Amino acid sequence: MRRIILDVDTGIDDALAILYALRRPGISLEAVTTTYGNIDIAQATRNSLQILEAAGRTDIPVARGAARALVRPYTKKGSVIHGANGFGGIKLPEQKAEPVARFAPDFIIDLVRAHPGEITLVPVGPLTNIALALMRAPDLAEKLAGIVFMGGTIHHPGTPSMPSPMAEVNIFNDPEAARTVIASGALLTMIGLDVTMTTKLTEEMIARMAKRADAANDLAGRVTMEAARAYLNAYQRQYPGITYCALHDPLAVAVAEDPSLVTLQPMKLDVECVGEITRGQIIPDLRKVAGVVPNTSVAMLVDAPTFEARFEAALGG
Ligand code: BDR
Ligand code: CA
Repeated sequence: MRRIILDVDTGIDDALAILYALRRPGISLEAVTTTYGNIDIAQATRNSLQILEAAGRTDIPVARGAARALVRPYTKKGSVIHGANGFGGIKLPEQKAEPVARFAPDFIIDLVRAHPGEITLVPVGPLTNIALALMRAPDLAEKLAGIVFMGGTIHHPGTPSMPSPMAEVNIFNDPEAARTVIASGALLTMIGLDVTMTTKLTEEMIARMAKRADAANDLAGRVTMEAARAYLNAYQRQYPGITYCALHDPLAVAVAEDPSLVTLQPMKLDVECVGEITRGQIIPDLRKVAGVVPNTSVAMLVDAPTFEARFEAALGG
């Protein structure tokens, strides 16, 4: 059983990742921690609580985290991919539950210290909460089972809306945090665009899952599939000719449970924090010289058909 804390900027694929984590028997979702990114922190927290409410899992604690990056302000209003409410404009049922009364980085520290060697962090938004936790608790890196983060890219072009052509948005939103996490000494796995952009959520898959959610009276499945339709439409506007949307965040959860889904390459990574046209770019040092010691296992290939089938089975009810 893989015990995970999912750190989310919910977000449509973040919501899909939450449901995937809830519905895989090999995963125990210990907590959801929230961050800004796709949407501001208040809305990301609300969306996370509402997904859990719709799934009937208000027993999962939600801790609200950082409202902005370590260094730069957060000024974004809405998202071209995730819409003005971060959920494709789809209304989620109101939640009754509240976030726990603890700042997400502190909540992460508490949980990891309570279960040393047991918890894997799965951040799928900017890495601010994780960097803050690692800075506050120098013992955290060695007490974690690992960190599997969705973000960055090695060869695939970056997120289209980014000013840096090779920057992926989660890293671009807080490069200083990403750099802190990468230098932390924790066991790191990077799930970047090189692999996530080859995982496909198609119209046919959405239709099949929506049908099963309807038949099973599965509210969480139904609303996320409605949002998935909006996500697919947004993808088709952003990437002309594309016939699918990518399962970025669910893939990170899936790899935390089963690393055999990807081919990992050890690399020494760093993050460009000041570059005029490269801010937010992950820089791998692939030179074979003394001092270049890998700090991250980077996913370079994914068994997309196996993962997509697992995703559909998990969410399809
Ligand atoms: C990442 O950016 C966000 O829009 C998604 O939720 C995902 O975490 C993909 O680049
Ligand atoms: Ca995300």
